[in-house]
Amino acid sequence: MNTALCIDDLRRLAHRRVPRMFIDYLESGSWSESTLRANGAAWAAMPLRQRVAVDVSQRNLATPLVGHEASLPLLMAPLGLLGMQRADGEVLAARACAAAGIPFVLSTMSICPIESVAAASPAPIWFQLYLMRDRGVVGALIDRARAAGCRALVLTLDLQVLGKRHRDTRNGLSTPPRLTPRTLLDLALHPAWCARLLRARHRGFGNLTGLLPAGTDTRSLVSWIETQFDPAVTWRDVEWVRAQWDGPLVIKGVLDPEDARHAVERGADALVVSNHGGRQLDGAPASAHALPRVLDAVGERAEVHVDGGIGSGQDLLRALALGARAAWSGRALAYGLAADGERGVARAIAILREELDRSMALTGQTDATRIGRDALV
Ligand SMILES: Cc1cc2nc3c(=O)[nH]c(=O)nc-3n(C[C@H](O)[C@H](O)[C@H](O)COP(=O)(O)O)c2cc1C
Repeated sequence: MNTALCIDDLRRLAHRRVPRMFIDYLESGSWSESTLRANGAAWAAMPLRQRVAVDVSQRNLATPLVGHEASLPLLMAPLGLLGMQRADGEVLAARACAAAGIPFVLSTMSICPIESVAAASPAPIWFQLYLMRDRGVVGALIDRARAAGCRALVLTLDLQVLGKRHRDTRNGLSTPPRLTPRTLLDLALHPAWCARLLRARHRGFGNLTGLLPAGTDTRSLVSWIETQFDPAVTWRDVEWVRAQWDGPLVIKGVLDPEDARHAVERGADALVVSNHGGRQLDGAPASAHALPRVLDAVGERAEVHVDGGIGSGQDLLRALALGARAAWSGRALAYGLAADGERGVARAIAILREELDRSMALTGQTDATRIGRDALV
């Protein structure tokens, strides 16, 4: 695995090792995928300011995130169905993040349940929540996150209805899943992936199975989930969540300064400027382009994080230079998981860490918490 020198190397391995249906699920954006492409392109278009003759022999990457120090200003973003990239994937990724000293954020739509992931991780995980129609289910998830010792609750607001992802429809990753001869052949071509999945401890939607009536099969569970995304969510619901959770509350999926102000007024401790990795509103701005206006609106009242298209430590440096406290990575770290499980995630984090560290040195920066606009040309 140490032969993987950059995130692209891990991505190539991931594509070889995971069946098409699931690697496409990871890669896809919504509709024409223009926002997906814009995310990466926006970072790439920001030249870094090379500096010379600055003493950069001592460099600090450690950064406080909602009051707890991370070894690096990076988090693993919540990814639904992560356990389909690699069997028991959430457990493996959480362990790798804990060992590296960065937070792992578990999705509501994970395969492994909160309790298993929290128990397996030597450090507290963060839990990501969707506001589903059945508020009893939402309340129960908050209680479980608290009981499992989750450090922060991440409320994702940008999924009131689902963005259309054509690759998923074409691959039969729909509700209920369609197993065509092509899909079956593809699975047959990935025997190691299949064998690991058959041995896995968890194969359903780990956080939701127990909350539905006994006897609910996977087919009806999947249909239930489809109908559970709630188009009626408003800031009053955010107030309701705030009242249920006294730990750090993070609001994810904000692109607009006015929404950012609302989130802070409702008591958010941190915001994640995010377009869901280009999977929701196709045509929404790249998160790098939305970030400065959100920062202006929020000021010092909350931490502002960003995600979308972070593919290298240089991108991470650009995010910090624009003013983000930290960046979240979805796909880049998931490629590591898909490529080589826990070791692969560790490798992906190590690559981003080293790239950030060296790029800081080459831009004359010595402290990740003090990088500003002057790191950009
Ligand atoms: C396969 C996949 C599944 C995702 N599932 C969730 C989810 O369950 N909850 C959530 O808040 N965000 C979800 N996201 C969005 C990510 O948390 C994050 O915002 C995005 O991946 C960042 O972009 P990047 O993948 O380019 O780093 C998902 C993204 C991907 C790619």
